[in-house]
Amino acid sequence: MRKDVHRVLLDREAIASRVTALGRAIADDLESTGGPSREIVLVPILTGSIVFVADLIRHLPQRLRIGVMSVSSYPGRSLESKSALIHGSLPDDLAGRHVLIVDDILDTGQTLALVRRIVLEHHAAQVRTCVLLRKSRPRVEEVDVDYVGFDIPDVFVVGYGLDYNDYYRNLPDLVTLRPEAMR
Ligand code: IMP
Ligand code: MG
Repeated sequence: MRKDVHRVLLDREAIASRVTALGRAIADDLESTGGPSREIVLVPILTGSIVFVADLIRHLPQRLRIGVMSVSSYPGRSLESKSALIHGSLPDDLAGRHVLIVDDILDTGQTLALVRRIVLEHHAAQVRTCVLLRKSRPRVEEVDVDYVGFDIPDVFVVGYGLDYNDYYRNLPDLVTLRPEAMR
């Protein structure tokens, strides 16, 4: 797998310190707006956010629950985001809840915009959004993101949960791949 890596964009130490800071910022906001008893529902978007959300929740001391949503936008070997599709069941009981949607990366914006609409349709009291990475590129759908880990250039990245054709999610660093690895 190592020989497939072109370069390390963000290493594990950089990711860990940024995730710690993000977690603190989210926890502080929750506490200042709702007090220590403010409960939230995290809605991680599968599959790419699993590693990020696992690290992030350990910096959130609040009472929280998790309701995952499964969305696909990069089917198979595609490097182009296709319009987002929801799979499987949605988290129930979102009515009146404070929801934080968590995704790995904001690219065209279609995934986050779709999930946000669905969560609002379920009558959540408040919806916030958090992404580890935000690509610098024009959005197909404009969506406000409340918490961003890193702004990155418009390159295809894998590792720390992000995949190419479902592989490389287990790499601890965020990397770009050699062109030969993406065939
Ligand atoms: P959007 O709907 O175009 O914003 O796409 C967001 C989704 O596309 C993310 O949840 C990722 O699963 C996937 N994605 C976008 N860019 C990348 C990338 O560089 N590497 C891996 N997955 C990506
Ligand atoms: Mg995804």
